[in-house]
Amino acid sequence: MTWDYPEANILANSVGGFVPVVHYIAQCIETLPAHNKGIAIQADAQSIDETGDFVISTDPPYYDNIVYADLADFFYIWMRKSLKSVFPDLFRTLLVPKVEELVATAYRFDGDVKKAQHFFEDGMLETFIRMNKYANETVPVTVYYAYKQSEDDSDSNLSSTGWETMLSAIIQAGFSITGTWPLRTEQGYRMISTGTNALASSIVLVCRKRAVNAQVCTRRDFINALKRELKPALGKLQASSIAPVDLAQSAIGPGMGVYSRFSKVLEADGTSMSVRSALQIINQELDHYFTEQDGELDRDSRFCVDLYTQFAFNDVKFGEADVLARAKNTSVEKLAARGVLYAQKGVVRLLTREETPETIETKERIIWLLTQQLTRALEKDGVAGAAKIVANIFTSEPEHAKALAYRLFTIAERKGWAGEAYAYNSLVIAWPDIQSKAAEFQAQLKNAEQMSLFDVEINK
Ligand SMILES: C[S@@+](CC[C@H](N)C(=O)[O-])C[C@H]1O[C@@H](n2cnc3c(N)ncnc32)[C@H](O)[C@@H]1O
Repeated sequence: MTWDYPEANILANSVGGFVPVVHYIAQCIETLPAHNKGIAIQADAQSIDETGDFVISTDPPYYDNIVYADLADFFYIWMRKSLKSVFPDLFRTLLVPKVEELVATAYRFDGDVKKAQHFFEDGMLETFIRMNKYANETVPVTVYYAYKQSEDDSDSNLSSTGWETMLSAIIQAGFSITGTWPLRTEQGYRMISTGTNALASSIVLVCRKRAVNAQVCTRRDFINALKRELKPALGKLQASSIAPVDLAQSAIGPGMGVYSRFSKVLEADGTSMSVRSALQIINQELDHYFTEQDGELDRDSRFCVDLYTQFAFNDVKFGEADVLARAKNTSVEKLAARGVLYAQKGVVRLLTREETPETIETKERIIWLLTQQLTRALEKDGVAGAAKIVANIFTSEPEHAKALAYRLFTIAERKGWAGEAYAYNSLVIAWPDIQSKAAEFQAQLKNAEQMSLFDVEINK
């Protein structure tokens, strides 16, 4: 294990200092809804045997991500010296117990990676089976999950093994997944997230016990239900300005909701559809959703999205760009004149955000251009910069620009253009702030107009 942050000075009045840390904890306790006495017990989740039913909310380990028991030893040996007489049960062992820990570390299995993975996967399944047994019927089980569908798996034909294992275990244990709630849990300045598109949120998987008499359906039924239900669910997520980096994961909820509602989804050959295939289909539907949104764009922007997908801001031969432009019923010359393209000496390329004109056109707006202008204003002048633009537009075009930012994020992320993806992600995350600042500007403008009318009346 290597540390990815420096130790803080505990005497300092900043993050990591003793006083601020106590303050954070006090704030959490103050906001807790219940005030009854809490109880903590230490037990192995795979073998715990309790009577009664429980409200279960859990943040499970993830493969070999962090070997908690090894990490805990670092502190344990010192705490044991001072606290053994206070908590004799907790400090019974010389080191932290390791055998039961659900973690896929090969070195605990003489270097055997497969054995370590099986240990983890079987253990997680066993744990979820137990949860299913004890879970209260009226309150859903919530599982915190903060891992991205991995980079190399982001191709729509593949899906992440981490998600797959977790979902399979939950479904196999007898749960249906009824939702995936994005939740902001990590602090923004966390080292891992600095300068990357790390998830802004954890995803909470919401699970309920599947009805014992759940139906069997066919692949076609599954896809049809998915088409009906995924679109409104995605629309809602986008309307709430969910960060683009979180959208694909959040789509898994409503998608898996359809899949796991059935006891089985049958493939054409009669075999059961795997979670992996279901995830692939959900990702494909997500793609369709975005492509459909293209249809709502103006033809110039559609051309820009095409050019961007193929060449980003790089040079293209005039002939190639011309063919693409004609296909979208627009022209390279027109878009060069409008400040969207560079087109000289047989070379064409999209103008970068720094090069696009600052003036915001009022007629026949090109949403691509507006998206670039908003993204640049945010980068350069922060929320106020972007809000100034929005405040002067009285149509739904800024909303279309935000929708395009989602689409451009997806393209950039798939292509591995980290800086680009980051820029569009930032625009969407800042959207609620941009909107409220824009409303403020509009109110100020109205006041100023009324004042000047008032002046005119007085001077009459
Ligand atoms: C992702 S962490 C949860 C961290 C926690 N939310 C926090 O903020 O401290 C997963 C936790 O599962 C615990 N764990 C691993 N195997 C377990 C088992 N068999 N039974 C109970 N807990 C286990 C690990 O020790 C670790 O604390």
